This record gives sequence, structure tokens and C-alpha cells, in this order.
Amino acid sequence: MRTDTPQPIRLADYAPPAFLIDEVRLAFDLAPNTTRVKARLSVRRNGDHDQPLVLNGERLKPVSVAIDGRVLADAERTIDAEFLTIPGVPDAFSLETEVEIDPENNKALEGLYMSGGRFCTQCEAEGFRKITWYPDRPDVLSRFTVRIEADKAVRHLLSNGNLMESGDLPNGRHYAVWNDPFPKPAYLFALVGGELDVLEDSLVTMTGRTVELKIFVDPGMAPRAAYAMDALKRSMKWDEDAFGREYDLDLFMIVAVRDFNFGAMENKGLNIFNSSLLLADPATATDLDYERIESVVAHEYFHNWTGDRITCRDWFQLCLKEGLTVFRDQSFSADMRGHAVQRIKDVKALRARQFPEDQGPLAHPVRPSSYLKIDNFYTATIYEKGAEVIRMLKTLVGAERFREGMDLYFERWDGHATTVEAFIQCFADVSGRDLSDFFAWYEQAGTPRVELKHSYDDQARTLTVELSQTTPPTPGQPTKQPLPIPVVLGLLDGEGRTLAFERDGVAVDETLVVLDGESAAITLTGVDSRPVISAFRGFSAPIGLTTDARPTDRYVQMASDPDLFNRWEAGQDLARALIVARAKGAPDQVGEERFAEAMGRALADQASDPAFKALLLALPSEPDLALALQPADPAAIHEAREALRQRLALHLTDDLKRIHIGLQELGEFSPDAASAGRRALRNAALDLLAANPRAEIAELAEGHYRAAANMTDAMGGLSALMLIGGQAYEDALADFFQRWKSEPLVIDKWFALQARDPDESALGRVMGLTAHPAFEQKNPNRLRALVSTFANFNPARFHDPSGAGYRFLADQILAVDSFNPMTAARLVDPLGGWRRYKPELGALMKQELERIAASEGLSKNVHELVAKALAD
Ligand code: TRP
Ligand code: ZN
Repeated sequence: MRTDTPQPIRLADYAPPAFLIDEVRLAFDLAPNTTRVKARLSVRRNGDHDQPLVLNGERLKPVSVAIDGRVLADAERTIDAEFLTIPGVPDAFSLETEVEIDPENNKALEGLYMSGGRFCTQCEAEGFRKITWYPDRPDVLSRFTVRIEADKAVRHLLSNGNLMESGDLPNGRHYAVWNDPFPKPAYLFALVGGELDVLEDSLVTMTGRTVELKIFVDPGMAPRAAYAMDALKRSMKWDEDAFGREYDLDLFMIVAVRDFNFGAMENKGLNIFNSSLLLADPATATDLDYERIESVVAHEYFHNWTGDRITCRDWFQLCLKEGLTVFRDQSFSADMRGHAVQRIKDVKALRARQFPEDQGPLAHPVRPSSYLKIDNFYTATIYEKGAEVIRMLKTLVGAERFREGMDLYFERWDGHATTVEAFIQCFADVSGRDLSDFFAWYEQAGTPRVELKHSYDDQARTLTVELSQTTPPTPGQPTKQPLPIPVVLGLLDGEGRTLAFERDGVAVDETLVVLDGESAAITLTGVDSRPVISAFRGFSAPIGLTTDARPTDRYVQMASDPDLFNRWEAGQDLARALIVARAKGAPDQVGEERFAEAMGRALADQASDPAFKALLLALPSEPDLALALQPADPAAIHEAREALRQRLALHLTDDLKRIHIGLQELGEFSPDAASAGRRALRNAALDLLAANPRAEIAELAEGHYRAAANMTDAMGGLSALMLIGGQAYEDALADFFQRWKSEPLVIDKWFALQARDPDESALGRVMGLTAHPAFEQKNPNRLRALVSTFANFNPARFHDPSGAGYRFLADQILAVDSFNPMTAARLVDPLGGWRRYKPELGALMKQELERIAASEGLSKNVHELVAKALAD
């Protein structure tokens, strides 16, 4: 273990900046190994007179530092690995600095780096300090003017805001000057330089202004940006309609790059995207890719108001922009693609990523109070649970007050860096409610467990519902307080019809109950028959629910709950119980038959949406099941889940085949939600059929793969063949590689598919693939496709009893950490939950964490996660 333990940053220590920057002028002279950056900052003192000027700066080669035109002698300033410090500065002055940086050798992909021969930047959260000396914190907002100079071969020179000037220079060089009129923190700065193709369009805003839209991509790829452009225009329109938010510059640009640590980045007026979340055409992208592109384009665009115009005071407020913006993009996607299906997908993602986080060593509140590396806090808790908290706020205050609160927030805080408290205050102000209890959702970590019990009095026709809550302890928070939990509740009769009831004497079909203490009992009257309770409709709170519902009630819900989320949820609950029973060695054969029959009826329901049926058909994932059965035994879970799949496949063979034939696509591909839903159901049917060992199914899968006219179906076929295994799979795999070897985004899919293979040979295959000529450890997409997919989505093989899966992951973490700490740290998670696994496995996982912890030269990023995973 390291001895120089890094010191945590704490929310409680927040202090306003000692100096503000009113204006910044940057001049870049771009060259791959020797880029020169000149900065002129108009600095103004904001605090005590005796404070020195301290600016962040890392990996900068100093050239010169001057104040008001006078170059400082070495003794007048100190430069260390993290800061430039100048004592005795005036109250207002101009600071001019020049540094040299090396984008070509920047493999951390933070600051200014090169991707595919092009210059690009990533500054959130703390990358700007790798470009020039600056107060690199989000509460220092400044107006940026940026001059970029380069060889003409670096054809496009882009930065934030509006293009003011551009032209040729002697010696085959050229330049461009950009000005961003909106004050912004440095993390929103962006620069791009290189040969790119551009797809152009425009949009007229709600006040009649014309905005130019440009998407820059690798040469030859412009047609593949068409869907992103369409999604962008729909996002812009939606933000006007849903939130009254208009775009504010005359130009909006997006650039796609192949080497990127995350999904995308909301730099003002110049979003930068991972190309995997931007480029799509039917031949190379799946419906899931289209769906994610739509939502990420929207997400980054929505940040223009929730993130850019109003930003965060400090990084503890990250959810202020991220949770809110995820909430906004989820609402947009729901409007685009259907509310129920979108909600189910969002909750699945929450359960797959955030719930495990809450049960592990990194459990933290939506607003954390300390960190070592902020990069480690771009988590499912900040993003996804952050969005759930906003959703509950909307449920509690109602849609109208919610919109008023948002309007007030935009009015009150535009142009500022602010806090979560200030945001919540807006809703308290418009609703006249005291929201101080609600604030606990931001400060308390962990997933509350809610228990629901009911009793029905058929004489009095009353139903009493008892609710209680507890939240298990999380690291650093041993005791928990009750939270205000919104429970949306409806009733069904035994036939699945909506059962009206009275709440406080008023007849309703549905009601909102707020559980705000440890327990509460509510009595509903006028309940005409013994009810089935449909609680937490639409997943009205991010909790884990246990109820006294009988399987019969669940079957009623699965067949006909008008709340489609709960209809789906009932199926998941039933399946989870059956799989857990099997994993414990006590299979419920009768129950399984009954479940298969219910599934058959649900599939036959002509009224329900194919996209919904596809979701219904998918059993809970193995990571989800690992939470339901602790200590987790991934091999047993895998086998039990497969066994249930096989029973379903055998029982439903004819129905599934009928779906497979009936939904065969004729005519042209369309990425719209309805078409995608039909493809999803058809591929889900094939996926389940693949669990049927009959030879004809292998032929069906092969035929599906060969006949595929789009990537969704090609992947559906290949994935079914993978599940079946054998020569047909190997042939298809080879065929796929040959066909797509020059398409990086498709080859990522080829790696990811093999990483998900449940066959015993998968661990060896995955390790072997790291030596494949197409494997690139330095490219995050390729690395994640193989390594992260394996560790996160193939639990049965990752948790190999020998520990070889863990060793493989630890080796990758250590190798990647030497050049890209941010991405290395994101690989630690699958080992972090070691305490939840059966002891033999847990011990081997821990051993690898200890080996990482003991390594020389570990980054702060990986150190923080490993240390937390090992802490008692
Ligand atoms: N703010 C970005 C978003 O969610 C994500 C982000 C944070 C990011 N840090 C990053 C992207 C580092 C790339 C690299 O919209
Ligand atoms: Zn975001």
C-alpha cells in the first residue's frame, strides 16, 4: 500500500475562489508533440489581500510567466507538479503565460490529445489544468476568446461559441478565432483540429432565430451522422416545448472522436462525442445504438441549460447537472419512444448499475461529501439515482409546480454556478412546501427497503395498507433516517380489472401515498372486492420492495395491470423467485409450468406493444439475480437461469417460432421505435429459442444471421449462435470479422459478443483475444468491449473458481492505469463487490485487489477505489 496517502477533498471545506477571471484569451499553436499554449487572464482578487495567486497546472512545460507585461523571474513564482503559485500579486492584473504540451503522447485522453490524427480536448472534470495554468474549478466563470493556429492540413479549427475570424497565414498555415459570449467554467472549454467531414443543417427556434447545426465526423462518415442530426433537432424542439428552453448561440456543433473516456461531453456550443454514440446506419448500428444515440445527443444538448448556462458551484454538486439532465433525457426518450417501455429500461439500468453500487464499498449519496478523484464519482448513483430523485420531486409537487420550479430555477440562477440546495429551494418557493425532509434523498446513501402488508375487510369494504421502511447501513453512514417515499398505488380485482376505491371519501382509480416516517398505515374505503395491490406504479421510488402478495396476485398483475411497469415487474418477480428457488436446489416445477403458461398468454396478447413483450420475455439478468441471492454464487445463478430459460423455450417453442416468422421484416429499414420494437421481440424470441437444444434451432439461428439485412438482426443471429455454440458459431464469427474488419465500431461488437459467451471456453478465449491484432488496449471502446463486458456481463465465467478471471482483470487494470487512470478506474468495480460473493470467490477477488493496492505508481483514481473496496 502507498504511504503518501492522498488527502480527500471535502464539501465542508468549500471556500469561494480567491481570484476571479473576467476574461481569458487563449492562443494555440497546434503541433502533435509540441503544442504551444499562450494564455492571457484578466485576474481580479475576490478574497483576502495576502493570498497568493494559485493556479492549477499539470504536465505543463513552462515557457514564461508575466504579470502586466513584465516577465517574472524564476524566484518570483513556484511551479510544482500541480500548481503555479505567485505571491504578492496586485488586486487586478493581467497574467500572461506560455506553456508547451504534448498531445500526441497524451494517452490519458484528458486535456488536449490526439485521436485518429486529430486534435481534441476533454476537460471535465479537471482536464483543463493539463492545457494551461488556470483556476480549474467550476465556480470560476469567464468569457473565452480562443485563437487556433496550425498547418492547413489541420483543416478544421474549432472551439466554443461563434467564429469571429479565420484566414491563411504564411508557410502553409492558417488560423481561426472563436469567441464564446457566455461566461463558463474551464471544464466546458473545447478545441478540435483536423481533417473532418461535416453534415450541416439548421433549425429555426421558438423566437424565429436560425441556428446552424454542424456535425463533424471522420472523412466519409457524414451520412452516418444523419440520425444524430435528426435526434438533435428533435431535442432542441422538445426542450422548447417541455421546458421553454431555447438554444442561445447561432451555431451548434458536435464532433465525433473514436478515442474517448466516456460517452460524450457537453462543451458549450461544441459537444464532443464518442463516435460509438453518434454514428449509425442500418448496416453497422443496432437499434440499441440508435436508441442510445438519440438519448445521448439529447442529454448533451439539454446540458446547455442544465450544466452550461447554470453550472455547479463545486464537484459535490455534480448531480445538479447530471441527475437533472438524465431526468430530462429520460423524459425526452419517453416522449419519443413510449413511456412504459422507456421506464422499464431506465429501471433495469438503475437496478443493474446503481443498486449494486449501493450494496458495495463505494456506496455514496447522490450528493457525496468527500472524494479523492472526482473522476470516480461519475457514477450510477449521481446520474441514475440523481434522476430518480428529480422524478420523485416531480411526483411529490405535481407536474405543474415542477415546471414552475424549473422556470424559477432558470430565471434565478442563469449565468451562475450553484448548489443542490438552491435548486430545491426553487421548488419549495413555488409550492410553499417545506422540502427539508426531501433533501435527505441527496445526503443519505443506500437503497431503502420497503415492506408492504395489507388486510382487507370484506364487511366494511376497507383495505388497510401498512408500509414500513429501513435503509441498510453504508460505509460511513451506519444509521439511517426515514425518507419521504412516494408510493403510487392502484387496485385490481381478481380478474385484473381496475378496482376503484375511495381515499378520504373521494372515489379514485389511483392515489399517491407518501411514506415519510418509519411506518404508516392507510385505510382505503369503498373497496368492493378482495383487491390485488399494484404499488409503486411506474417505480415511483428507487427502493427495494417486499410485499405479502401471493403468486396468484402477481399472475393477475402480469396479465393485466394497467400500469405496464408493474405488469412487467410482476413477471420479473415471478421469474426471480423461480430462479432463486432453483439456485437453492429446490426447483418449483409447478410454478415454472404456470409461469410458462402465463408468458404464453402475455405473448399472445394482441393489444400489447412488441417492444413491451420483448422486455417481458427477458428474464432478470444474472447481476440482478446476484443481488437477490447472497452470498452470490454466479455459477449456480447462471445454471438456474438457463434451466428456466430452457423450460420456457420448450414450453413456448411454437409461440416463439410463430413470432419469429410473423415479425420477419420486409421492406426498408426504419429506426423508429415501433419497427425497433418488432425487431426486439423477434430477436428476443430467437434468444429464448436458443435455449432449446434441438438441432433445428441452430439452423434457425444460422438462417437468421445469414438473412440479416441490418446490424440488429445480424447481432441477434450471431448472439443466438453464440449461445448454441459449435461450428456454425465459429464460422459466423469468422465471417463477421472478415466482413467488418475495417469498421472499428462493428469490431467492438465482435469483441463484446465473445466476451458475453457463457461457454466454459470463454475465459480462455477472452484472454486470447487480448493478443488479437485488432485488440487495442489504448482505445477505451475496444478495451471496454472485451474486458469490461466480460467482467460485468459474463459473471459465470468471470467468477471462475480458479480466480483466473479476477487475475486477468487486475492485470488489465494495472496495465491501463499506467497511461489512462480514468478508464482503468472504471474497470475496478467488478472486483469491488467481493464481500457479496461466496467466501471462496470473495477471498480470491480480495487477493487481486490487494495485489493492485500493493503496486508501484498507482494512480489516485485506482488507488481510491481499491482502498475503499478493501477498507473494513
Ligand atoms: N459531463 C459528461 C456527461 O455526462 C460526462 C463526462 C464527465 C465526461 N467526465 C467526462 C466525458 C470525462 C468524457 C470524459 O454528459
Ligand atoms: Zn451529463
